[in-house]
Amino acid sequence: RAFTVAIDGPAASGKSSTARAVAHELGFGYIDSGSIYRCATLLALRQGISDAAEDRAGLAALVGQADIDVRIRPGPRPAGPGQIVVPDVQVLLDGEDVSRAIRSPEVNRLVAAVASDGPVRDAVLRIQRSLAAAAESLSTARHPAHGGVVMDGRDIGTAVFPNAELKIYLDASAMARAIRRWDQMSSQGNGPAGSADAGNAQEQPPAAHSSVEDIARELEKRDYTDINRKHSPLRIAPDAVVIDNTNMTFERQVHAIADLARE
Ligand code: CDP
Repeated sequence: RAFTVAIDGPAASGKSSTARAVAHELGFGYIDSGSIYRCATLLALRQGISDAAEDRAGLAALVGQADIDVRIRPGPRPAGPGQIVVPDVQVLLDGEDVSRAIRSPEVNRLVAAVASDGPVRDAVLRIQRSLAAAAESLSTARHPAHGGVVMDGRDIGTAVFPNAELKIYLDASAMARAIRRWDQMSSQGNGPAGSADAGNAQEQPPAAHSSVEDIARELEKRDYTDINRKHSPLRIAPDAVVIDNTNMTFERQVHAIADLARE
C-alpha cells in the first residue's frame, strides 16, 4: 500500500497549498478532498437545492453518478534554486473545468451544510478512495517501498485513512486565517482578466462590501458546522502532529512535513 500523508485542519489554515507543495517535494500524488465536497455543493446549487435538509435527499445519488476528477497540473517553476513549488490543481466535474466555480461565495456558504449529510459523505468517501488509488499509481516516488499520496481535508486522518503513515493537523489563529484568505481573494481579483483557467484553487474575489471581519465570520461559521456535525466531524487524530503556522513561514512548514514523511 502507498505511503499516505493526511493533512487536516480548519478552513483556510493553508492545508491545500501546503499539501500540494509537500506532494511535489516527495513526488507523491495529491487529492484536495474539499474540492470534492465543493463539487457536490455545485451540483446541489445547479439542482436548485438551497439549504433545507429535506431538499438534499437524492443529492448523494447525484454525487455518486458524477464524474469528479482532481488533477495536479505542472505548476509555475520555482523562482530560484531551492524554492518551493506549489503545483496548480484542476477540478473537473463531468468533464467541465469547475476549478473556479467551486470557490464562489454561494458554494462557500452552502458547502459545510452539504458536507454534514451522511449519504453525501459516503458517496464522497468512495470518490476519495478511488482518486487516491489512481494518484498513487501516478506518483513518481517510491517511499518507503511504494508510491505515496497526500490528501487534505477535515477527516482524512480520523475517518478516510485512519491508518495513514503520517497525520498532520494544521492550525492557525482565526484572524491569521481570515487575513490570508482575504489576501488570496484580493490578489485573485487583481489578477489577469478571465482567470477562469487559472485553476489554482483560489477563492473568487470578495464582494466589494466584504471585509476581513466578514470572511472571519464565514470561516468561523463553517468551522462550527464542521466541528459539530454528526458524521466524521473535524477532530485532531490522537496520533496527529499538530502544527500551528500562525507565525511560521510557508517554506519551514513544508520542509518540516516533508522531513517527517521521510523519517
Ligand atoms: O479551502 P478551505 O479550507 O476553505 O475549505 P475546503 O478544504 O475546500 O473544504 C470545504 C468544506 O468541505 C469544509 O468546510 C467542510 O465542510 C467540507 N469538507 C469535509 O467535510 N471533509 C473533508 N475531508 C474536506 C472538506
